[in-house]
Amino acid sequence: MTSILPHGGELVQRVVQGEERETLLKAAQSFKQITINTWTISDLDLIGVGAFSPLTGFLNEEDYRSVISSMKLANGTVWSIPITLAIDPIEASKLVLHEQVALVGEADGIVYGTLTVESIYVVDQAEEAINVFRTNDPEHPGVRKLMERSSTYLGGSIQVLNRPEPVKFKEYYFVPAETRRLFADKGWKTVVGFQTRNPVHRAHEYIQKSAMEIVDALFLNPLVGETKSDDVPADVRMNSYFALLENYYPKDRAFLGVFPAAMRYAGPREAIFHALVRKNYGCTHFIVGRDHAGVGDYYGTYEAQEIFKNFTAEEIGITPLFFEHSFFCTKCGNMASSKTCPHGTEDHMTLSGTKVRALLRDGQCPPPEFTRPEVAKILIEGMAEQVTI
Ligand code: ADX
Repeated sequence: MTSILPHGGELVQRVVQGEERETLLKAAQSFKQITINTWTISDLDLIGVGAFSPLTGFLNEEDYRSVISSMKLANGTVWSIPITLAIDPIEASKLVLHEQVALVGEADGIVYGTLTVESIYVVDQAEEAINVFRTNDPEHPGVRKLMERSSTYLGGSIQVLNRPEPVKFKEYYFVPAETRRLFADKGWKTVVGFQTRNPVHRAHEYIQKSAMEIVDALFLNPLVGETKSDDVPADVRMNSYFALLENYYPKDRAFLGVFPAAMRYAGPREAIFHALVRKNYGCTHFIVGRDHAGVGDYYGTYEAQEIFKNFTAEEIGITPLFFEHSFFCTKCGNMASSKTCPHGTEDHMTLSGTKVRALLRDGQCPPPEFTRPEVAKILIEGMAEQVTI
């Protein structure tokens, strides 16, 4: 059984069920309503199921300021990404401390949960951007999202009354309590978590399998929440993961489950966050490769690894496994990194994301040294469907 404790020591569980749920749902009809978008619904749900343990709600002002300035909650627990609820300032002015509000889906009117108002505060978004994203450039997708939101935040603990329904691949959605049980049932003592927002190319496969050599199993945990529009859509990616696992991974040592969170593109800070969350799902190890959760040229290749030096192993709890930029070396005849290959870049096969997308769009498979043909086929089909839609 995986012995790793959730972050903060206890798995948070704030999904209300049965009679308690019925009562609260009824009561919520008379609460003031705060509308929430898909992104916030996903944050709410991930708090509710304990994926964001030890958070029990959206950050209050004290925790927010502490996370922004020092990557820790006010009580000293490491937490690098502010999980916040932005609300309209006029709605905020009508609220009083300690009252309960209903959190209602903006598109469907469903009461997803309730929140007890602990704090209402106004933030400096430029400061938040600089601290979290290391830039306030509005071209950065995370910064742009931040700037589009209200700068008035509502903090307080939550209760989940309705969970968002996955549109597809329902059987790959697991809450942390389930993955923890599953890993234990399979007898896995060490599990490495792998975050991705991309198809699994050969470099990803190489670092996953290098890690699998030293742990019991791989938890392939692709992020399927909101991503930027030019990232490969999650349903196409899911089909590509099935093809890869079917053909190239041992069935009893690799496990696929989705991470239904939004992508922040916060590079180094998001690497810490991704690691802590995977600890909550029961992973003992977590892969951080080149430019983890990065975008464009905003972060240095290994900044997402270096940030871990700010914390002790005990503070993080999960063991990060760092990998150098990996590639296929034509001279070595295998996958490698600068740690294992003596040859120059002229012998290394590297393709940019843009180049790969262009090939796939033209219906051409990237070289098998870059992407498995079974994966390429699915990506080509997926791209073609997108174009015809
Ligand atoms: S992420 O934004 O979700 O982190 P991506 O799906 O590209 O991005 O990467 C998933 C993981 O693989 C990250 O840890 C990333 O650092 C790592 N990675 C991606 N490509 C390479 C590569 N060529 N060499 C080494 N690590 C890589």
